[in-house]
Amino acid sequence: MKYKTIIEPFKIKSVEPIRFTTREEREVLLKEAGYNPFMLHSDDVLIDLLTDSGTSAMSSKQWAGIMEGDEAYAGSKSFYRFEAVVRSITQMKHIIPTHQGRAAEKILFSIVGGPGKYFPNNTHFDTTRANIEFTGSEAVDLLNEIGKHPEIRADFKGNMDIEKLETFIKEKGPENIPLCIITVTNNSGGGQPVSMQNIRETKAICKKYGIPLFLDACRFAENAYFIKIREKGYENKTPLEIAQEMFSYADGVTMSAKKDALVNIGGFLALNDDDLAMKCRNLLIVTEGFPTYGGLAGRDLEAVAQGLLEVLDEHYLQYRIRSVEYLGERLIAAGVPIIEPPGGHAIYIDAKRFTPHIPPEQYPGQSIVCELYIEGGVRAVEIGSVMFGKYDKHGKLIPAMMELVRLAIPRRVYTQSHVDYLIEVITEVYNKRNNLKGYRITYEAPMLRHFTAKFEPIR
Ligand code: F0G
Repeated sequence: MKYKTIIEPFKIKSVEPIRFTTREEREVLLKEAGYNPFMLHSDDVLIDLLTDSGTSAMSSKQWAGIMEGDEAYAGSKSFYRFEAVVRSITQMKHIIPTHQGRAAEKILFSIVGGPGKYFPNNTHFDTTRANIEFTGSEAVDLLNEIGKHPEIRADFKGNMDIEKLETFIKEKGPENIPLCIITVTNNSGGGQPVSMQNIRETKAICKKYGIPLFLDACRFAENAYFIKIREKGYENKTPLEIAQEMFSYADGVTMSAKKDALVNIGGFLALNDDDLAMKCRNLLIVTEGFPTYGGLAGRDLEAVAQGLLEVLDEHYLQYRIRSVEYLGERLIAAGVPIIEPPGGHAIYIDAKRFTPHIPPEQYPGQSIVCELYIEGGVRAVEIGSVMFGKYDKHGKLIPAMMELVRLAIPRRVYTQSHVDYLIEVITEVYNKRNNLKGYRITYEAPMLRHFTAKFEPIR
């Protein structure tokens, strides 16, 4: 390629103005939100990096699909289009639409979970863990050692620890492990990819012990692109071919279409096992809807089908991965400690190194998140001891493995100047890091507390 600038591979057809606020306004708004950005009104946020989920900009073809949606209760033609596209990528026999990823998880784990069972994963996302634990089963993370070190650069830091997996299976007994999961990319571990070799090796272990392998495939296309650019032998394959190979090792898939299907709502469960699929469809009818719409409208199914085709476009993926990497490179150059290398959908600030003076019990990630909002109207999310911390029986906090702040980048939404603004804001907060204070929790829910917790700064 002659020019090194990678451009956004789209033109903007419709715009949504963003509202500017002053620092004084933001100080009041954040206090009113209990120092929890989840509680802010989005209209009070300038750049919203809370999540890359459901925040994508849809294409004109997806919007056209919305008009094409067939809203028949049963046998809608939009379902058959959706089914054909999902099947062409995953090659799964049974395609079951759900309203989002966690609905697929809820159905699957309600059927295969229960007390005394174990589910290994490279790293469980919080809703996956919650859906497993809700049934009385245990969710176990078996991430490769290198994935636990934010400062070490490696190509596939999302990989499963194969040796630990085999030891774990022998220890707990394969009969107590209904299925094994690989999350691509590894969201809770920094958006890091999993190599094809690791998926293949995980499958071999699972096969040896008769355990089905599932992919939590929310960001499968981003993972496929990382394989293309980083794993030997895949450089000349298309993202679709790579994705197909990834899915070929799986017996089932849970998917939140709100990520790599470039839609605002949607998900699915895809399976090969006839008996399990029948049980899932029966539960689907109770909790989501008839099997040809799940929890979605026909128009949503059209948008998912179209989005799945667009996300595998190589120009799109190159722009997507490069724009996140650009943000990461600039932050590293400014000295900001982040998980290296940058992930696929987000940059993760390493709060332990950013604010070493704030102990985990005072939630350093939350402190950074609050400061980013006050400084520049930027909304990020803590992924550390607020999200994953637990208490021991004396009520003392057991901190999370890592203290991170996630800057999730919505797909096709922000341009390079938004990113340049972000770099300035984050750098400014970093330069003032010694003034940041810890926080204490004043209210928390018993499960998934980070969504609704209230905080106050420790003066
Ligand atoms: N699995 C992973 C790896 C996820 O990242 C998510 C959602 C889910 C499952 C659940 O999907 O939201 O459609 O029910 N992640 C979002 C995030 C919420 O911000 O990372 P869902």
